[in-house]
Amino acid sequence: MGHNSTSIQLVLLITLSGILSLKTIQLGFCSADHNAGCIDIEMKALLKLKQGLTDPSDRLSSWVGEDCCKWSGVGCNNITGHVNRLDLRNVDGATDHAFGGEINPSLLVLKDLVYLDLSMNYFEGVQLPSFIGSLEKLKYLNLSGTSFGGIIPHNLGNLSRLLYLDLSNDPHDPIETDLQWLATLSSLKYLNLGGVDLAKATSYWLPTANMLPSLVELHLPFVDFPSFLSLFLISTSHPFWFLISPAMV
Ligand SMILES: *[C@@H]1O[C@H](CO)[C@@H](O)[C@H](O)[C@H]1NC(C)=O
Ligand SMILES: *[C@@H]1O[C@H](CO)[C@@H](O)[C@H](O)[C@H]1NC(C)=O
Ligand SMILES: *[C@@H]1O[C@H](CO)[C@@H](O)[C@H](O)[C@H]1NC(C)=O
Repeated sequence: MGHNSTSIQLVLLITLSGILSLKTIQLGFCSADHNAGCIDIEMKALLKLKQGLTDPSDRLSSWVGEDCCKWSGVGCNNITGHVNRLDLRNVDGATDHAFGGEINPSLLVLKDLVYLDLSMNYFEGVQLPSFIGSLEKLKYLNLSGTSFGGIIPHNLGNLSRLLYLDLSNDPHDPIETDLQWLATLSSLKYLNLGGVDLAKATSYWLPTANMLPSLVELHLPFVDFPSFLSLFLISTSHPFWFLISPAMV
């Protein structure tokens, strides 16, 4: 009898200490997450990005100190601590608040980046860097009003998880594309091509866009093809389209 109750107590003790150590593990896990804040190599990558950018109004003045998740425009996954969001939009659009200069390829260190907004900054017609197409997890990419020039790199087609792609720009300074990269962006819901020069893609760009299974909103460049467009609209099988003229003129 005495023997039995001792073993019951023992079992209880073990269970109790089991619960306690589980609690400790959980607490340890939580506080580790909390303290981690920002991952060291990602912080360094962001600092390189900052170095490459011109920043006339010192918008990146908060980019100091260890915890890059607290820096302005930077967002981190609250479980893993990885940077997943970079919002560098020039909100008022004024040129004296615009970033310019170079986008450092260190951006590729941010492997979990899902959201990248560079809109309304001013990159003076330099070629859009092709490494943007290697940010494979991107769901949102906004290059509206960024004045990147040249051609849109083909490897943008690698961004198969993209839901939103905004390439609208000043039509007087258009970026060119043959749009061959578009067909593989099968998750795309929103596409803005306002101000994009589609001269190299006239014969097939609308049919290509029409093949995208998830597309619900398409913004078109200003092009002069009313008869082609109306013929196309009659023949389209896509039920959800809104055709909207570009906001930027
Ligand atoms: C963590 O992030 C998720 C998704 O962004 C959010 O829904 C959730 O509320 C966040 N949790 C905490 C503790 O901040
Ligand atoms: C992209 O940025 C522009 C300018 O900041 C904004 O007006 C537009 O709504 C954004 N596009 C999307 C799809 O969020
Ligand atoms: C991305 O796209 C380019 C050109 O379309 C291709 O050559 C390259 O292999 C792709 N990279 C990955 C990682 O899929």
